[in-house]
Amino acid sequence: MPSQTLREEILQLKAQRKAVILAHSYQLPEIQDIADFVGDSLGLARQAQQAECDCIVFCGVHFMAETAVILNPSKRVILPDADAACSLEQSCPAAELEQFLKDNAKLNYYVIAYVNCSIGVKALSDVIVTSGNARKIVAAAPSDRPILFVPDENLGSWTAKQCEREMTLWKGHCHVHQQFSQEQILNLREKYPHAKVVCHPECREITRLLADHICSTEQMIPYCRHSEAQQFIIVTEIGILHRLRKLVPEKEFIPIDALSCSCAQCDYMKLNTLEKLRNCLRDMSPEVKVDESLRLRAEAPLLRMLEQS
Ligand code: 13P
Ligand code: SF4
Repeated sequence: MPSQTLREEILQLKAQRKAVILAHSYQLPEIQDIADFVGDSLGLARQAQQAECDCIVFCGVHFMAETAVILNPSKRVILPDADAACSLEQSCPAAELEQFLKDNAKLNYYVIAYVNCSIGVKALSDVIVTSGNARKIVAAAPSDRPILFVPDENLGSWTAKQCEREMTLWKGHCHVHQQFSQEQILNLREKYPHAKVVCHPECREITRLLADHICSTEQMIPYCRHSEAQQFIIVTEIGILHRLRKLVPEKEFIPIDALSCSCAQCDYMKLNTLEKLRNCLRDMSPEVKVDESLRLRAEAPLLRMLEQS
């Protein structure tokens, strides 16, 4: 079906359902273009909490839609593809974290969880962070308790360094950011010697060492807009390039995979298509539902994050 017809169908269904479409910056360009709001995990969580509608359509991955339900339980939350998972979420099963906390109960860890985790992990945590606010939240953590940071070892090590705070790090990784290499950056630097390297904190430390700037996807936009540089090597998932080119059209953005065959694409994020977006609005399915007592336990650390950021 031509995408214009699909777009019209989606807009019609959206009005009928009194729905709001939220999309992460890693979504396909055509999904970003039809969304009411595009942003990073922090911005999307805020939008989900404040959404005044009957239904939230979450174009992202499952934990993001789940976060929307936790923060705004009176709304129905649907997503185009229920299989849109996340390797970071998978790297920290709630049962494993629970066992670890039991085994180390004496330490009385203050648990800080990156939002890329399941509702079960959130429910075991004291506070949640996103890549956009991790420094602020870690800086505000109680100084008399040891910190356990889950599940992203890379975001954890970067934040620990920024805040000069020791933390025990869970060994979880995002498979997309984990594969970016120094060699890829050095090859691009040779071709674009004046370009600034902008890197997401989910990247390995060895990669981050070559960055001119490290920040969340959303923070890349003002950085690139206000920088004197004209070209930027973007070391994160390629979806953000659409947003950068749209919002900062006068500058040039080079994806990290421009010269290599390894792809900077999150296949989970790319499971969502316009067609599946139309179908989920038409069928009101798949819908995210959560257990209420678990939701209440996961809500508290999320609210703490929103208060502190
Ligand atoms: P941010 O949107 O917080 O920058 O995180 C990137 C990411 O990997 C989301 O899954
Ligand atoms: Fe998860 Fe990585 Fe995909 Fe983000 S890019 S959704 S962290 S697998």
